[in-house]
Amino acid sequence: MAGQSIEGFGPVAKSLHWLAALLVGWQMLKFGDRIDDGEHWVGQTLVSWHISIGTLMLVLAVFWILHAFAFRKERPPYDASNALYVKAGHRLIFAALVVLPLTGILRMVGAGYPIEAFGIELYPAGGEIDWAASIGSVHSPLAWVFAALIVGHATMALFHHFVLKDDTLARMTRLRARD
Ligand code: HEM
Ligand code: HEM
Repeated sequence: MAGQSIEGFGPVAKSLHWLAALLVGWQMLKFGDRIDDGEHWVGQTLVSWHISIGTLMLVLAVFWILHAFAFRKERPPYDASNALYVKAGHRLIFAALVVLPLTGILRMVGAGYPIEAFGIELYPAGGEIDWAASIGSVHSPLAWVFAALIVGHATMALFHHFVLKDDTLARMTRLRARD
């Protein structure tokens, strides 16, 4: 892909990564519903977009995974000493970005609610569907596991940057590959 090199991720991969980070951060505000049942300004403003942003994240995740797979030979190389763990961690994050929205959708559909994203009705309200509700019930526990995974991921990126002082974070942030 244009711009993708040993030196760093290309502009498409970097844009998808930081857009996903922003949207995932936004989705995590849903934990705030646990404070006063979401009856505070974050709950009433940003969190009310949970279904729309989650649906958008599903579309973006599918595109990002296809993109990462198509250009897997051109991404910056993994460090041979821990490639297996890093690859597994990244794959888990990719998988979660698909499974979380899907289980969220099943959680809603199972309870008989409609799915509406950005004002567009994608699925109408209906009766309760037991199998969908039971798969959907893993959405919340999965969100906690995912949050831990993301904290670990970001911590490792910062550890590489500030402690090991290597290029790992720069490969995902640098605007231009080094001359
Ligand atoms: C918040 C949600 C985030 C998600 C969903 C996410 C997801 C991912 C994924 C799937 C990859 C692998 C990309 C690929 O191989 O094509 C990746 C790589 C990376 N992420 Fe994140 N990330 C997030 C947040 C962060 C944050 C906050 C940081 C920095 C503090 C960060 C730093 C990095 C770095 C440096 C890489 C490249 C690692 C390498 O060179 O192999 N990420 N991220
Ligand atoms: C990447 C996408 C998503 C992320 C990261 C995410 C994250 C979260 C988080 C952190 C919570 C709070 C869990 C808790 O307090 O225990 C939550 C709850 C919830 N999410 Fe999502 N979500 C995503 C997508 C979706 C989608 C697409 C839908 C529906 C179409 C959805 C529906 C729900 C529902 C109904 C709850 C409340 C669950 C309950 O009270 O049992 N989510 N989500």
